[in-house]
Amino acid sequence: MRVLAEALVLFSVVSVVTPGFQFRSRNISDTTVSKHCSLGEFTSKAECKLLQYQLNCRIGLVNNWLRGIKREITHLRLVDWSGECLNVARLQYHFPELIFLELINSTSLRSFKGHFTALNKIEKLVVHGLEALWEIPPEVMVEMQALREMDLRGNMLRHIKSPLLTKLNKLERVYLAGNSWDCSDGGLDWLAMESENGTIRRKIVDYDDLVCHQQLYRGKPLNKVMDIIRTMRQTCPEPCVCTMTHVVSDPSGAVIPLITVDCSNKDLEVPPATLPPGATTLRLEGNKLNTIRAIVHNPQYRVLTDLYLDNNSISAVKELEGTEWFSNFRVLSLRGNYLKQIPVYAFDKAFQLNNNLMHVFLGDNPWRCDCHYIPRFQSLLLKYRRVIRDLPDIKCSKSTDKKTSLAQISTIPLGNICGDDDVMPITPINIVNLVLLALILLVVGRFLYDWQTFKNTGQLPWLSSVLP
Ligand SMILES: *[C@@H]1O[C@H](CO)[C@@H](O)[C@H](O)[C@H]1NC(C)=O
Ligand SMILES: *[C@@H]1O[C@H](CO)[C@@H](O)[C@H](O)[C@H]1NC(C)=O
Ligand SMILES: *[C@@H]1O[C@H](CO)[C@@H](O)[C@H](O)[C@H]1NC(C)=O
Ligand SMILES: *[C@@H]1O[C@H](CO)[C@@H](O)[C@H](O)[C@H]1NC(C)=O
Repeated sequence: MRVLAEALVLFSVVSVVTPGFQFRSRNISDTTVSKHCSLGEFTSKAECKLLQYQLNCRIGLVNNWLRGIKREITHLRLVDWSGECLNVARLQYHFPELIFLELINSTSLRSFKGHFTALNKIEKLVVHGLEALWEIPPEVMVEMQALREMDLRGNMLRHIKSPLLTKLNKLERVYLAGNSWDCSDGGLDWLAMESENGTIRRKIVDYDDLVCHQQLYRGKPLNKVMDIIRTMRQTCPEPCVCTMTHVVSDPSGAVIPLITVDCSNKDLEVPPATLPPGATTLRLEGNKLNTIRAIVHNPQYRVLTDLYLDNNSISAVKELEGTEWFSNFRVLSLRGNYLKQIPVYAFDKAFQLNNNLMHVFLGDNPWRCDCHYIPRFQSLLLKYRRVIRDLPDIKCSKSTDKKTSLAQISTIPLGNICGDDDVMPITPINIVNLVLLALILLVVGRFLYDWQTFKNTGQLPWLSSVLP
């Protein structure tokens, strides 16, 4: 049995030859260092003190502690380790009976070489004051099957991967406070998805004291952010992708997420029926929507401020007229649709009322260009030129009329559209109007003629002789 154990230890030493574990999030320039990541690097400056079974070492390990296997040591404390790399496989080889390992104030340590194997007996691991370490690669520790307590307080950790907490069967307590947790890049999303009273959550003793440090969640309580991330994940509509773009705190300190729901290029014919609470931006570019009815009438969409509908098949937006959303939105993009015209008066009214208005995009639509529509549309474009951001792309539809085909509407001279040679289009309603006009003229003419005749001759018109 002993022989087998020795052989396994030896095997673990052989595995040291494999390159050290490194961290994705950092550009590791110290590959040369980890190549000779040796426990004996700092022996000349090292100081070690032995107190019964406890060995305390500063800076490095003194030579005589690196000769052979020291079974008598059960507690090792390494303070101010000078290297950027720590060879844990060698450590386990020299101190196979360790039960308690402490790594304190090793400010340059940023990687490990090798890993603890299933033979190690460490029950308690304390890591404090490691300022260069962003993450402990799970591979290093995942086989520490005796580990009961892991105290990682007061480092610069940003992430922790799930195997570190889920694969260690004996693990009972984990302390994680005082680190620089990055809740914003998905590295902790697995933790968010853990159920509220799940075993993992309960193992993290100080879960409610953790604080997010990076980017948008800086200073926000981690448990609140995790709750938000979980809700967002669970309520994100298929097949869209939801991301939090901002987080704000309301006066009572509650964390309010601002969420972007990205459903672009998904062949959708209808917009998603539900949105996560706090969704403020909806991207629906490149789908097959042909109406915005479902959007403006869905109460879930009321808090939406930014709506991107580029490259759909929308041909009318009259549904916007009079809706609450239309006088509160921030961004609306309707580029690349089939719009020929918009209700100009309703747009003007809504824009005037809207204090949030920032950007409107209307380009790349086949706009109608005739004398009835263009003067009003053009004045709307010019009046709101600060918010309508793509004026050069707002052009007349392609046509055979050289004066208007693809002309930029905001700059087109009205004379080109309402010129002398511009005859009123002959529509049925115009024909009816002309007929009515002719009839009126006829009646009035006949009346004047009869009047004149009566004055001159006293003769009543024929009609009065017929009337009783
Ligand atoms: C990462 O390291 C490589 C090699 O040392 C270097 O060429 C590269 O510029 C570094 N990248 C960053 C982002 O620091
Ligand atoms: C580690 O560093 C901190 C702050 O510099 C110091 O207060 C603490 O005593 C140090 N711990 C050890 C064991 O030297
Ligand atoms: C979790 O536990 C707390 C307190 O023990 C309890 O109030 C809460 O309802 C539990 N939540 C779930 C989802 O079981
Ligand atoms: C819309 O389609 C045009 C032409 O295919 C493309 O250039 C543009 O990038 C698309 N816009 C968006 C927001 O997808």
